[in-house]
Amino acid sequence: MVGQALKRRLAAENVTAVAGDDNDADLRDPARLDSLFAAARPRQVIVVAGKEAGIAGNQKQPADLMLDSLMVAATVIPTAWRHGVEKLLYLASSCTYPKRAPQPLSVESLWTGPVEPTSKAYAVAKLAGMQLCDAYRLQHGTGFISAIKADTFGPGDDFSLDNSHVVSAVMRRMHEAKLSGNPVLEIWGTGEPRREFIYVDDLADAIVFLMKNYDDPQPINIGTGVTTSIRELAELLRNVTGYQGTLRFDSNRPDGMPLKGLNSAPLRTLGWAPTWELTAALASTYESFLTTL
Ligand SMILES: NC(=O)c1ccc[n+]([C@@H]2O[C@H](COP(=O)([O-])OP(=O)(O)OC[C@H]3O[C@@H](n4cnc5c(N)ncnc54)[C@H](OP(=O)(O)O)[C@@H]3O)[C@@H](O)[C@H]2O)c1
Repeated sequence: MVGQALKRRLAAENVTAVAGDDNDADLRDPARLDSLFAAARPRQVIVVAGKEAGIAGNQKQPADLMLDSLMVAATVIPTAWRHGVEKLLYLASSCTYPKRAPQPLSVESLWTGPVEPTSKAYAVAKLAGMQLCDAYRLQHGTGFISAIKADTFGPGDDFSLDNSHVVSAVMRRMHEAKLSGNPVLEIWGTGEPRREFIYVDDLADAIVFLMKNYDDPQPINIGTGVTTSIRELAELLRNVTGYQGTLRFDSNRPDGMPLKGLNSAPLRTLGWAPTWELTAALASTYESFLTTL
């Protein structure tokens, strides 16, 4: 999802973009990656590849998720350095923050406490990737940076029932409820928890902005600064999908954290702001979802 959005965004830049998936490269394979870098001779690298999963996937296959992320970072970052890459951005997600860190999450809170246990293996791998960028900066003076993104959605999202996140999961279930004429759609939890969502095209735009404007050992958050409750999200999705049934919030199901958002003030101060309004972004995602059916 993020890689495709970056390709769309980079089409507007005066660059030649070479994507790992154009070359069918397994980024964990140092020899394959070495020849890819030798052929393409990239000056800048953006690392967004990596297996990811929802809560269920994180619990079912923590070893696979952790190993893929660790190996991608441990292969791509040193290869980029060996080939003289000037700038590299490593993308991590908000699961790297300690579970009980103050909200909104600021990078100063990284490493200050235990992370959410259900995604611990994956989070530790992402923390290691960010730390490796920092270590290369320290040891070799490279312009390697890392960024932490808010929950992302958009075209190319995973809409599968066992691996999706809240936006894609509720969108798909609502669409199916509309088609089957189901009068009631159940949504886990009270609907009260608030989360921060960023549309993938805004995320891609922020990444390109950071490649041009950020050069610091400290990771930087990429978010919108706006949180939305699950109930508000479900109502917006109802408008977007045209589902006319009733939403029933099942308070017997776990809510998770009451609030999760990123402090993206440093990114705002640098001069970047999101451009996609949430309803329009959800509508665009729904349009792309329909084309996948
Ligand atoms: N979407 C989210 O909400 C979310 C949440 C937490 C973290 N993230 C992180 O954000 C980044 C972007 O995620 P996304 O949403 O764009 O995920 P995505 O749509 O699943 O895309 C990930 C891409 O990485 C590729 N990939 C994975 N392991 C690879 C390897 N060893 N070699 C080459 N390619 C590999 C995948 O290729 P295949 O399809 O061939 O496997 C896929 O094209 C990832 O680092 C992910 O871990 C995303």
